[in-house]
Amino acid sequence: MVQDYSKYTPEDFKVWKLLYERLMPHLPGAAVPEYLEGIRRVNFVADRIPNFDETNRLLASWTGWELEVVPGLIPDKDFFELLANKRFPASTWLRKLSELDYLEEPDMFHDVFGHVPLLTNEHLVSYLQELSKIALRHIDDPYAIELLSRIYWFTVEFGLIQTHDGLRIYGAGILSSKGETWYSLNDPKPARHPFDVTHILDTPFRKDEYQKEYFIIEGFDQLSACIPELDRVLNEKVSAKD
Ligand SMILES: [Fe+2]
Repeated sequence: MVQDYSKYTPEDFKVWKLLYERLMPHLPGAAVPEYLEGIRRVNFVADRIPNFDETNRLLASWTGWELEVVPGLIPDKDFFELLANKRFPASTWLRKLSELDYLEEPDMFHDVFGHVPLLTNEHLVSYLQELSKIALRHIDDPYAIELLSRIYWFTVEFGLIQTHDGLRIYGAGILSSKGETWYSLNDPKPARHPFDVTHILDTPFRKDEYQKEYFIIEGFDQLSACIPELDRVLNEKVSAKD
């Protein structure tokens, strides 16, 4: 599949612009600086839906990753195979103006605005790639894949990070949602735990509401460095279940 840029309608451009302009003013002081730098690196702006050819050229110069067009949610095996090969699955369709805030399935705004800026970060992409290699070794075991989806969820989608200037967001699921940006950092209700592989693997998640728990990394290198531990703890849990 390829992105057919000529198919985007004036409504699509309006949706991208509205979402972009609604979120961007809230991100300085909320998003991790590496994400904001990533936006600059991949040249995202309000007035133009990203063109994947250009995005891929830019990503290539930072980490060698590229976007792979997918129709929407894809089977786990395909998903992890793409990531293990430095290809990030992204849809090309945009939500409608009438559904700016609620989505059944991630659209291009989530996949691209949420995820792509940090695909310029070496630690994050190394983590994604190595986590996916572990997933492929367990791909026929639904229990192992469920545990790995938890760590993907609580990092890549809903991760928080401690910086010198305070708590910040790096998870794409938060960064592409207007309401959860403020909530994840400031609301007293959710629990905020230090990043801990075993704790995360033991924590189920919900997709249909704001998170009740978040996990905080101390730096992106903590993600790439956790892979041997993830591999070991997962193997222990899988063996214990057999
Ligand atoms: Fe996502």
